[in-house]
Amino acid sequence: MSDAFTKFEHEGWERVADKYDSVWASSTRQFIPPLLDAANVAKEMSILDVGCGPGYVSAAAAERGAKPIGLDFSAEMIAIAKKMFPRIEFRRGDAQNLPFANASFDRVVANFALLHLADPERACAEAARVLKSGGRFGFTTWAKISENPFVKLVDDAIQAHANLDVDLPPGPPFYLFENEEEFRNALERAGFDGASMTFTVHKIEWQVPTARFIFDAERNAGVRTAGLLARQTPEALRKIQSAIEKSVQSYAHEDGFAIPKATYVVTASKSDRA
Ligand SMILES: C[S@@+](CC[C@H](N)C(=O)[O-])C[C@H]1O[C@@H](n2cnc3c(N)ncnc32)[C@H](O)[C@@H]1O
Repeated sequence: MSDAFTKFEHEGWERVADKYDSVWASSTRQFIPPLLDAANVAKEMSILDVGCGPGYVSAAAAERGAKPIGLDFSAEMIAIAKKMFPRIEFRRGDAQNLPFANASFDRVVANFALLHLADPERACAEAARVLKSGGRFGFTTWAKISENPFVKLVDDAIQAHANLDVDLPPGPPFYLFENEEEFRNALERAGFDGASMTFTVHKIEWQVPTARFIFDAERNAGVRTAGLLARQTPEALRKIQSAIEKSVQSYAHEDGFAIPKATYVVTASKSDRA
C-alpha cells in the first residue's frame, strides 16, 4: 500500500470489518440484484468480485450458477467472507493492481468499491485487463448529493458544523463522477466500449432502528467520514450528531426510519481494441 489514501482506507477497513455486516450490509445488499442483472451475470460465468467485503456479491453470483472469486485488500474482510461462504474462493489483493492474468474473467463486478480507491480509473483499467474479450464490468457508486437524500443529510451536518481543514489524505469524490458522460469518458479511457455503457439510478430505502443509528454508523463503522469525525472537537461532534438526528426525524415511520438512498449502476463491455 504505497499511497497515503490507500493506506488510510486499508487501516480503516481492517478496523471496522467486523461491524460491516450489522451496520452497512442491510443497505449495500439491496443493490446486488440490480448490479448482477445489469452486468448479465449468468450460469457458468467466471466472475471477479472486487472489494468483496463480507462476500455477499460473490454469494449472489454463485446462487445464479456463476463461478465467483472475491477479492479484497482487507485480511479481516477476507476472513469474514471465508467464514460466511466457505465454498467460495476469496483472496487478498488490491483493486488497483489485480493479482490475475489478462483475460481471466467473463465479468468483473464491484459493489461500492471504486469510491474507496485512491485511483478508481486505474482499477477500471485493471478490470478491463483481466476481462476476456467481450467481457463486461459492472459497478455501483453512490449517486451525487443532489440525488441522494442519505448522503445529503450527512453532508449537510458536516458542512455546517465540522472543521474540514484536518489532516486526512485526499481521495476521490464519494460519487466518483458527476454524470453519465463523465462515467463514459472514464470507462473509454480505461479500455471499455463507451457505446456499450448502461447507466441507471437505483433507489432504495434504508431502514434504521433509531435516529442515532446513522451518526453511530458513520462514527464507528465507517472509514472516511469516521476519519473526519475522529478529528473534530467534542462540541462539533455534538452539533453534527444533533443535526443528523434532526434530519433523520423527517423519515420516521412505524418501525423506525426509512432513509432514501440512490446509486448509479454502471456497466460496460471491454473494448475490442483494449
Ligand atoms: C463499502 S465496502 C463494500 C463491500 C462489498 N462489495 C459489499 O457490497 O458489501 C468496500 C470494500 O472495498 C474494500 N477495498 C477498499 N479499497 C480496496 C482496494 N484498494 N483493494 C481491494 N479492496 C478494497 C474494503 O476493504 C471493503 O471491504
